[in-house]
Amino acid sequence: MTEIGVILLAAGRGTRMKSGLPKVLHRIGGKPLFLHVLETAKLLQPRRVAIVVGYSADAVRHAYGGAEVTWVTQENQLGTGHAVLSAKQSFSDFPGDLLILSGDVPLVSERTLRTMIARHREEKAALTLMTAVLDEPSGYGRILRDSHGALKATVEEKDATEEQRRIQEVSVGAYVAQGEFLFKTLEQVRNDNRQGEYYLPDIVGIGIGHGRKIATVEVGDPREMMGINTREELARMEKTLRERINKRWMDAGVTLKDPDTTYIEDGVTIGRDTIIGPNTQLCGRTIIGERCQIDGTAFLTDVEIGDDVQLKFSVVMTSSRIDPGAIVGPFAHLRPGTWLGRNVHIGNFVEAKAAQIGEGTKANHLTYLGDVTIGRDTNIGAGTITCNFDGFNKYKTQIGDRVQVGSDSTLVAPVALGDDAYVATATTVRRDVPAGALVYNERQERVREGWTENKRNKMKVTKD
Ligand code: UD1
Ligand code: MG
Repeated sequence: MTEIGVILLAAGRGTRMKSGLPKVLHRIGGKPLFLHVLETAKLLQPRRVAIVVGYSADAVRHAYGGAEVTWVTQENQLGTGHAVLSAKQSFSDFPGDLLILSGDVPLVSERTLRTMIARHREEKAALTLMTAVLDEPSGYGRILRDSHGALKATVEEKDATEEQRRIQEVSVGAYVAQGEFLFKTLEQVRNDNRQGEYYLPDIVGIGIGHGRKIATVEVGDPREMMGINTREELARMEKTLRERINKRWMDAGVTLKDPDTTYIEDGVTIGRDTIIGPNTQLCGRTIIGERCQIDGTAFLTDVEIGDDVQLKFSVVMTSSRIDPGAIVGPFAHLRPGTWLGRNVHIGNFVEAKAAQIGEGTKANHLTYLGDVTIGRDTNIGAGTITCNFDGFNKYKTQIGDRVQVGSDSTLVAPVALGDDAYVATATTVRRDVPAGALVYNERQERVREGWTENKRNKMKVTKD
């Protein structure tokens, strides 16, 4: 099989996005648009990939971060034809076909690309372009054919006549070309059009004029080749991608109670028989085990959750890990660096940060656990606070196995509680507590009988 080279166009500003960010860095499914295209193109195992950058080039380069691509700079964005021509040097010695893709068409599938390349080779074409027939073709370049249906040329919407604008067959901006034909023909492209740009699709008309064979392939599902030029299109595309990802997980045995309000990013993994309730967002590299139950309103980013975990209503969790069988929530916040061992229970209004919590331990109500290591089968009473910050530095708290921390206790770090320690209710612990010891604060409790009535009477007198 002949080699394939890829030219990915990502130099444009994307004026219609009305953004400080280059268009290709806007995200769907949590990932910049051009990375969707790049990852799909890489599935074809191309011999060479060139990305044409220009507007905010450094930011685009930075967003990729990987190796194995050639960056081509298009100093001034003079049009898509000019952009491809900028990559000429990178392919001067390249023997294979060149696949040209736009960075703003993120849902293009590997299958579609393979179909286009196969057709190009079957037809022995100089150029093959992908087309779609759209109910609403506005915004796209139109395909012009003669009365026999033979391809003549393309016309951009801004240059099209009223009649041409009624044509529903459009170019979706994906092409396969013979390298030599491509660069030679591009040099003949002029910018005498409404936008004063060098249009890549102009090589269609020029090629036909020279008697070269130009083929077209119609894309099976036009939604996959939608380009993004506006925020509205971005939102629509996000929805299409979401539906596609959600379907994939439902097909794989995950229950989504309300797919319309379930947002699963591309890098997420979910085990079978997990049930996910409404308003759930699973982001980044999140991994969820089998038979988990996420009741709803959950926002999880870069987390790892073992099998049979239950997240009750409203859990926010970032860069943390939960081992099998744990129960979290409702209304819990697990911040980065938190690890919950097997069967841990974290209840309502509990916040944990960099907290290592051992198997079977429970912290069920109104608690802050920050920079703490807790052993097994410990019970953290309601209203316990690890005071990890003194206004200058952060300190660690260590709590052993089977410790009983009474409600309303404050543990002033750095501090350590040994195994089987017992913290009486409402204790401020400032010193380390040995294993098995009781710790409490001396505090006399006094009861004054009749105090309330006396007080009320006094208040009445002063009021009058
Ligand atoms: C382009 C096509 C149009 C097609 C549509 C499909 C042209 C002239 N028009 O229009 O026929 O129907 O895509 O989505 O090709 N870019 C550069 N350098 C530039 C200009 C653009 O790298 O100088 C990049 C952009 O970053 C973008 C891509 O090329 O990734 C397409 O540019 P865009 O402005 O979105 O073209 P469309 O108007 O959508
Ligand atoms: Mg576009």
